Amino acid sequence: MNIKLINKSDIKSEILIEFLTIDELKGHKYINTLTKAGFKAEQDTTCFLHENALLFCGIEDKESDNIRSAGSSMIKALKSSNYASAKIRIFNNSTLSAFVEGIILGGYEFSNYKSEIKEISLKEINLCSNNLDFDELQTTFNEAMIIANATCFTRNIVNTIPHDMHPQSMVGLAQTLSKDNNLECTILQEDDLAKENMNAMLAVGRASIHGSALIHLAYKPKNPKKIISLVGKGLTYDSGGLSLKPSASMVTMKMDKAGACAVLGMIKAVSELKLNIEVHAFIGAVENMVGGDAYKPDDVLISRSGTTIEVRNTDAEGRLVLADVLDYAQDKVKANYIFDFATLTGACMVALGQYTTGLMGHSHKLKHDLSKAGTASGELISSLPFNKHLKKLLKSDIADISNTASKPYGGAITAGLFLDKFIRKENKKRWMHFDIAGSAYTESAWDCNVYGGTGAGVRLISKFLKTI
Ligand code: BES
Ligand code: ZN
Ligand code: ZN
Repeated sequence: MNIKLINKSDIKSEILIEFLTIDELKGHKYINTLTKAGFKAEQDTTCFLHENALLFCGIEDKESDNIRSAGSSMIKALKSSNYASAKIRIFNNSTLSAFVEGIILGGYEFSNYKSEIKEISLKEINLCSNNLDFDELQTTFNEAMIIANATCFTRNIVNTIPHDMHPQSMVGLAQTLSKDNNLECTILQEDDLAKENMNAMLAVGRASIHGSALIHLAYKPKNPKKIISLVGKGLTYDSGGLSLKPSASMVTMKMDKAGACAVLGMIKAVSELKLNIEVHAFIGAVENMVGGDAYKPDDVLISRSGTTIEVRNTDAEGRLVLADVLDYAQDKVKANYIFDFATLTGACMVALGQYTTGLMGHSHKLKHDLSKAGTASGELISSLPFNKHLKKLLKSDIADISNTASKPYGGAITAGLFLDKFIRKENKKRWMHFDIAGSAYTESAWDCNVYGGTGAGVRLISKFLKTI
């Protein structure tokens, strides 16, 4: 399907799309027919008037969030019809990205494992500009396309099954991306990780038949304004290890690599947007399995930083991998920002719901700026506050820190505080932790997200990096 921005409105298309609010419906020339069809212009409802070659889409108001969502409903209706081309009159420059995201992200389907590919008649969508500043629109359009496509790139990796996307295939994928987008690429295999004393990360992957790997990609423009390190949890499968997950909780755990996939999508987007920001992506690609040599509850691991960790639950593995990768990243790059992305805790979903990313860190200013980028990008994020009482729950009697808290409440925050232990003093205010356990994956469609990976983080960080 081809989406085009067109500098006129008289282009021929088989169907015209109209977005209508309840108020606009009242005075509409097709009010009688639309009322008979049961159309009330409610948000996310659609109605075809085939004889007039029209598709109506209900919308609460013409704000970006509602356009994105209505655009998703529109594209689903169009894809299940037999029109080959459609045209939409866009409203203004500031909501153009929302149209593009609604269409691309709402119309996304992952069919790699279907034996029959659905035939879709829709070949072309024309976004018509109607007397708006075309140059400005063109820039917005191109950027929105890059970001939406990078989000789909992330979704594709998340959705790939663990048999096909294990740590070594993630290495291959990163190498391909580095070639395609001209990025520097360094891979640390298990023997390199051992030399780096990354024993926490290595322990998590020990029972897997796939070797663990650290992936480092870098996008380096000539005179960058800022440097950012993006760190991703890349658990290509999380069985829980010896603290095995119950069967029902294990299903969907292919998505435990979503942090890594998001970071790959972000560096792809930034390099294609050609932003003047140096970006480093660090990924801990590991599979958490059971086996005779699996790491165990009761083990004590000596992490790369020298901090010793008592393992009380092998299912709290993401923080062990991130502890070593964060330490490595801080050594390799002196960054202005260090952001980590991880499907880290079920507790984050309990705290914030399934749709919202949990944001943790020490800088109020950074939280504020990220929250603005959240609103602008349409991603939901909310801060979860650290405190010294929760921090005490990570005390261990045998090691420097325990990988689980001694009390069951505030689990997302105690996981964040565990990571904090590995953030150096000089970097405390530069670091933010994003728990995307809920927001990265969905089993039912919401907003512009469809079943599977959502690509959480990609739009947010692309927007943030455009503003710094
Ligand atoms: N990958 C999971 C977290 C998760 C759960 C992500 C549900 C998405 C959906 C993580 O490794 C994990 O298992 N965390 C444990 C931590 C606990 C053992 C302290 C959890 O959340 O139960
Ligand atoms: Zn786990
Ligand atoms: Zn996990």
